[in-house]
Amino acid sequence: MPEAFDAVDVIRAKRDNNRLSDPMIDWVIDAYTRGVVTSDQMAALAMAIFLNGMSREEIVTWTTAMMNSGIRMNFDSLGRPTADKHSTGGVGDKITLPLAPLVAVFGVAVPQLSGRGLGHTGGTLDKMESIKGWQAEVSDKQMMEMLGQNGPGAVICAASADLAPADKKLYALRDVTATVDCIPLIASSIMSKKIAEGTDSLVLDVKVGSGAFMKDQAQARALAETMVALGTDAGVRTSALLTNMSTPLGLMIGNALEVQESIEVLAGGGPSDVVDLTVLLAEEMLRLAGKPDEDVRAALNDGRAMDHWRAMVEAQHGDLDAPMPKAKHSEVVYAESDGYVETMDAWGVGICAWRLGAGRTRQGEKLDLGAGVQIHAKPGDYIKKGSPLLTLFTDTPEKFARSIEALDGAIEIGSEKPTSVTPLVLDRIDAK
Ligand code: URA
Repeated sequence: MPEAFDAVDVIRAKRDNNRLSDPMIDWVIDAYTRGVVTSDQMAALAMAIFLNGMSREEIVTWTTAMMNSGIRMNFDSLGRPTADKHSTGGVGDKITLPLAPLVAVFGVAVPQLSGRGLGHTGGTLDKMESIKGWQAEVSDKQMMEMLGQNGPGAVICAASADLAPADKKLYALRDVTATVDCIPLIASSIMSKKIAEGTDSLVLDVKVGSGAFMKDQAQARALAETMVALGTDAGVRTSALLTNMSTPLGLMIGNALEVQESIEVLAGGGPSDVVDLTVLLAEEMLRLAGKPDEDVRAALNDGRAMDHWRAMVEAQHGDLDAPMPKAKHSEVVYAESDGYVETMDAWGVGICAWRLGAGRTRQGEKLDLGAGVQIHAKPGDYIKKGSPLLTLFTDTPEKFARSIEALDGAIEIGSEKPTSVTPLVLDRIDAK
């Protein structure tokens, strides 16, 4: 059978800023999944979309076509509500790790299908793989058992190859063609997977600031509104929080380091920004799942969330008693003057951790799981000249010099205590 369209015509239409028709979009996504539209052609189309955008109607059709490229999951047989959270990506964003078991404490099942790092932002699966033996792949049967009444109630795992396969190809292609930070492509990527996943409710953590793909609040709000509308129209109760990503989240950036910090949070400790965001997102997921009055913080402090975490990790063969990967080399960055830390730029610190080996520079590259950055003072803290500001970790000491270059201008120390620190949550977007 001849193909319905020619890829060159579709690329030319978007290059010339024309609207793509529904049949064109359906065809191009299907033909890309089948390998008829090549990666070169899809890269050109993604760049044309990046430059010229898409209308609301095009985004809806594009998202639906990506969702229809694979299977649609269904958790109705669990007999309990399901809720999920998705972050648009940030620096030090390990919230999924404590959040999934925490929400499960309250009888809401959390099917957290997660991804790998994208650009300078970390990926939940990469972090979890720091735990010895932990397996990202689970069968459908095992997932249902884990989410059922007798399981931990939460699962963090890789989406199966047949869930939105068009996005799997396009996500990897965008990562290496500078077409990530584009509202239509991010919204359709996230929502095609989340709608196909079959969750009843979904909370979107839309990051704003230097360490996020959306650098300003207006862009982040537009992305959040687009995604909330896509989810709501598809029958998923969806809301979004716009959260601050101008400063890294917590004190640890890097895969094993972030797992350690998450375990501190599950043990009732941890940095206050990580704890507060975990609690706020858990409350939002429970609100959407019809359980608005639960005492979420108590479940972190009394060990219930930790019990669910242990059961969840052990079900995927993770050994929490085994030592975490530890970098062979470290180097300390010291404060150059006395004063208050005024700013700590998430982009600079994120690139530093990525260059140390916490993120990939090529598709499929093996990560240095112990690599990353430990922060000793955050904005608002007073620090003495010569005290440790950051510790950098890597297995490859030749990486220190370029990683430290990424910190140029990223940290400002001043004599006045900063009067305003950007709040953690900047806004909330509900379904209209
Ligand atoms: N997360 C996704 O799943 N897709 C994107 O495009 C960006 C973040």
